[in-house]
Amino acid sequence: MESREGHPAGVFPPRPTAREVVMPNAHSMNELVENDHKALLKALSDLETTFEHPDTEMFGEWKLERLWQLRDFLNQLQKHFDLEETGGFNERMSRTAPHLVAQIEHLEEDHLKITSDLTHIIDVMKGIYQPDSPKLERVHSRVQDLVQFIRVHEAAETDIIQEAFYQELGAGD
Ligand SMILES: [Fe+2]
Ligand SMILES: [Fe+2]
Repeated sequence: MESREGHPAGVFPPRPTAREVVMPNAHSMNELVENDHKALLKALSDLETTFEHPDTEMFGEWKLERLWQLRDFLNQLQKHFDLEETGGFNERMSRTAPHLVAQIEHLEEDHLKITSDLTHIIDVMKGIYQPDSPKLERVHSRVQDLVQFIRVHEAAETDIIQEAFYQELGAGD
């Protein structure tokens, strides 16, 4: 068995139930989102690495592994977006820092773009049957673009969280 830290690509540690997610305090919610962000960053670097060198000898197997990796990543992202959008996290940030509402809405729009780009990548990937197909190069560059986009998104989100959190702490003075 792999440890929680060393879990293989595409397999993630058990998540809390939805009931546990509706946290009684802000601190646990922040921690949950932060842990998700760490897991996402790991998944992003795994994606980057695995697409660098396609296995041309066993392309069918390599392609299936990549498809499953992308689908697991899509699911991981969707659950993370659920947490941010409907788990009460963004709502609490908007309440705490109303001047950040436009930026928070912009981040939620990013979620739609990320989902649609990733779904498109999966669809194109599924239709590639030869390692020398020009489509594979396009998929690789789209994966790189998406990885970069998500990193920028997460960094912007971290800034907003810190600013909102700062407001919250300041409000207690
Ligand atoms: Fe987000
Ligand atoms: Fe996020």
